[in-house]
Amino acid sequence: MQLCVALDLPTYEENIALAREIATFDVWLKVGFRSYIRDGKKIIDTLKSINPNFKIFLDLKLYDIPNTMADAAEEISLLGVDMFNLHASAGKLAMQTVMKRLEGVENSPIVLAVTALTSFDDENFKAIYHDSIQTKALQFAKESYESGINGVVCSVHESKMIKENAGSDFLTLTPGIRPFGEDAGDQKRVADIAMAKEELVDFIVVGRPIYKAKNPKEIVSKILSKI
Ligand code: C5P
Repeated sequence: MQLCVALDLPTYEENIALAREIATFDVWLKVGFRSYIRDGKKIIDTLKSINPNFKIFLDLKLYDIPNTMADAAEEISLLGVDMFNLHASAGKLAMQTVMKRLEGVENSPIVLAVTALTSFDDENFKAIYHDSIQTKALQFAKESYESGINGVVCSVHESKMIKENAGSDFLTLTPGIRPFGEDAGDQKRVADIAMAKEELVDFIVVGRPIYKAKNPKEIVSKILSKI
């Protein structure tokens, strides 16, 4: 299991400071909407210059028509990131088109599909998808797998079930992790490290429990010692 630290701090400077603070650890860094929209490729280049071994997950959750998604995926692959994601609900054709486009790309990043956002509870999810999170997450995971996608973003509670159905080499990445029972914030389906391990999760994403801590380095070290 690998730790992916969400760089969700409000400013470029704060995100870079956090990355410098944890530069000695073997971790992934997640760059999301806020940072990427504001800072663009600069943040990716700076993170790689702080530690070339940092792996970067660009969390932009693509959702559009297949050709537009494939164009975006091709551009992302030129940024030097190691992983990015898209929404499985964009459909099989979109996922297949993206994977086909990346076939010819050198060092193409890992591609994950988002099943159900971890901020959904069952009621809010049903209002949009007309089914339970479990059923839909499994369906989205199967469709992603069949489309050649490398893995899914899901909650810890669905990881094992998805792996049993898609194959153990199909990756799972789970946000909503509260390593030591911290405040859930807007996350509805949270879990701790022990649960993530039990559910065979490949990547845990941790944001607020690290960057809101008084000593983020200590928390990262504590998490790494547990995984
Ligand atoms: O602060 P916290 O640990 O809740 O951060 C979780 C991170 O994972 C956030 O950056 C959020 O955007 C992201 N994420 C998520 N649920 C998903 C996909 C990504 O919470 N399904």
